[in-house]
Amino acid sequence: MVCEVARERAQALRRELDEHNYRYYVLDDPAVDDAVYDGLMRELQALEAEHPQLVVDESPTQRVGAKPDSAFAEVEHEVPMLSLGNAFDPQEVYDFDRRIRQRLGLPVPTQEEGEGDSAEPVAPIVYTAEPKLDGLAISLLYERGRLVRAATRGDGTVGEDVTHNIRTLRSVPLTLRGAPPMRMEVRGEVYMSREGFSALNERLEAEDAKQYVNPRNAAAGSLRQLDASVTATRPLLMFCFALGAVEGEVPESQFELLQALKSWGLRIAPEARQVQGVAGCVAFHEAMAEQRESLPYDIDGVVYKVDSLAQQRALGQVSRAPRWAIAHKFPAQERATVVENVEFQVGRTGALTPVARLTPVFVGGVTVSNATLHNMDELQRKDVRVGDTVLVRRAGDVIPEVVSVVAALRPPDAAEVQMPTRCPVCDSEVERVEGEAVYRCTGGRYCPAQWVRAVQHYASRGAMDIAGLGDKLVEQLIEAGLLTRVSDLYTLSADQLTALERMGEKSATAVLAAIDASKTRPLPRLLNALGIREVGESTAVALSRQFGTLEAIMDADLDALQETPDVGPIVAQRVAEYFANDDNRQEVARLLEVGVAPPPVPVVRGEEGESLDSGPLTGKTFVLTGTLGGRTREEAAAEITAIGGKVTGTVSSKTDYLVAGEKAGSKLKKAEKLDIPVLDEDGLEKLLKAGEQQQGDGDDG
Ligand code: IVH
Repeated sequence: MVCEVARERAQALRRELDEHNYRYYVLDDPAVDDAVYDGLMRELQALEAEHPQLVVDESPTQRVGAKPDSAFAEVEHEVPMLSLGNAFDPQEVYDFDRRIRQRLGLPVPTQEEGEGDSAEPVAPIVYTAEPKLDGLAISLLYERGRLVRAATRGDGTVGEDVTHNIRTLRSVPLTLRGAPPMRMEVRGEVYMSREGFSALNERLEAEDAKQYVNPRNAAAGSLRQLDASVTATRPLLMFCFALGAVEGEVPESQFELLQALKSWGLRIAPEARQVQGVAGCVAFHEAMAEQRESLPYDIDGVVYKVDSLAQQRALGQVSRAPRWAIAHKFPAQERATVVENVEFQVGRTGALTPVARLTPVFVGGVTVSNATLHNMDELQRKDVRVGDTVLVRRAGDVIPEVVSVVAALRPPDAAEVQMPTRCPVCDSEVERVEGEAVYRCTGGRYCPAQWVRAVQHYASRGAMDIAGLGDKLVEQLIEAGLLTRVSDLYTLSADQLTALERMGEKSATAVLAAIDASKTRPLPRLLNALGIREVGESTAVALSRQFGTLEAIMDADLDALQETPDVGPIVAQRVAEYFANDDNRQEVARLLEVGVAPPPVPVVRGEEGESLDSGPLTGKTFVLTGTLGGRTREEAAAEITAIGGKVTGTVSSKTDYLVAGEKAGSKLKKAEKLDIPVLDEDGLEKLLKAGEQQQGDGDDG
């Protein structure tokens, strides 16, 4: 029996701690200092230790729990997490506003009129303008006011369960205040303040641990911890700005939604404003650009959202981005630094890319010491010389580039850059193909630089997708002499792998399993993996559909190749050349010998461009969910699309079939609700067989 006094005291302490948290994180108006807060926390901990029956999940003492089985498990988003279109200047914001007006059937002002200064003033659209935080998109699911799950955005359709880590963020309430909807998914951005980031890096430095390059990476790394007690020590914060799935009443405007989120105890960006029309948006952008450096956190632009949720619904979305919102980015940061040298990097196809080696400079959130000069034409156009002071730019995740030379600072001995006549890696001759900007090393597979990249490409996601065979491991294998052609991958042994540095038994087993699994990748992936010039993912799909098997492609002549939709004379020539080469033919034969066996693709031939308008599954839309037994979802999708079907990520009234494997969740429920036929894997198998049959018949006739 727990004494009533203890129960009541525990409750009072929890309420008080929650209140202090709310005042500190949401209102930014703390009522007590840390010592008082810590005192209350200790009292609650002592009380709960004495009476374990009093411990509840929502207690502020329970933020760090044991690692649950669900950590990092896949979470399917009930409503996809979208991304945003970008605008880089006021004109693009104006265009965005005009598109919205047209769609909503509102009068569209001519640009000269602007808004309001014409004879008949046009009422501006009301927007909510918010800072665009540079962190990680997270979804929080609250049921009856309790945080039950947190997930990352992932690819927008499927994310990862990070509940155990998000629970440790004191800025994320475990229970909501007031009267929130029964069930709602709140979306926002988890980030690290600049101050928190510096403090964390100082601590990591003192511990001799690896530091993070910028607040965004620090936030991502901190959430990626298996051990939530580590995340708990990281200064992570969250701002909320949107809802996903909701059951219950919510406000009808974005700005009111923000206020409601705040009243429920969630943090919102204090800079958010309601603004009128393009003029209001652009003024907000300017104001934020001015404040940018003095804000406590990194932002890379601002976001405008049509304020009325009714209008938002009327506008809908295109592909993965809403029509009713846009990110207005800040111009990429540029910094001056000195070109210490220009070297040439050799790519997978032998292309030599000039790269400037720079005096390290901090730009766009990272330290940059190399920047691409793209190709010789670019280099000459910008007239970059060794010793020059140049402006370097880095936008988002893009590779840093040299923007321009500061001519006034050129030293008299600045040296012009020459394209080497021999490959800096393998010393083969360098040639320039007539009419191309690119110079290439002619060493082919014998050039180590090309070879490493070729294998990396073979194992990459869009190709054979061999998980665990990372860039480093490829280099190690090549260095150890274990990999002179890709088919060698399939004869590697566990002993050979474990003999490599930093390769344990467990990883070795996993890599071998992944290599083995790659044997049955669909034909288009294998074709892409071979690295034939001009043959990327989509050409690989087209060729597979046209010929069905690798053997048929290998034996096709130029004319036959050119009959493939979207394959012109150049691509056909490259494919024919590739398979005319003895080395390549032998290597492909070896691949087949060691067990690489892409399932044949049903042939879908047709006039140019219409190949898929005529498959047996044409017009049918599929959604795949859960774990299938005999194939991965990707493989199933490839089989469906190969005979004309379409695969999407969201169940809607337009879905024709849901294919549900094991552990199917919300999509299955939704399909059942909408009365959409649900297939298990056997059902899919039958449908595919029937389709292939039908298609085969059609081909004969
Ligand atoms: S709205 C449809 N608002 O930017 C709504 N996103 O590029 C999409 N982001 O995934 C999100 N600050 O992670 C929105 N105030 C803000 C944001 C914001 C940062 C991130 C978010 C999103 C990405 C889209």
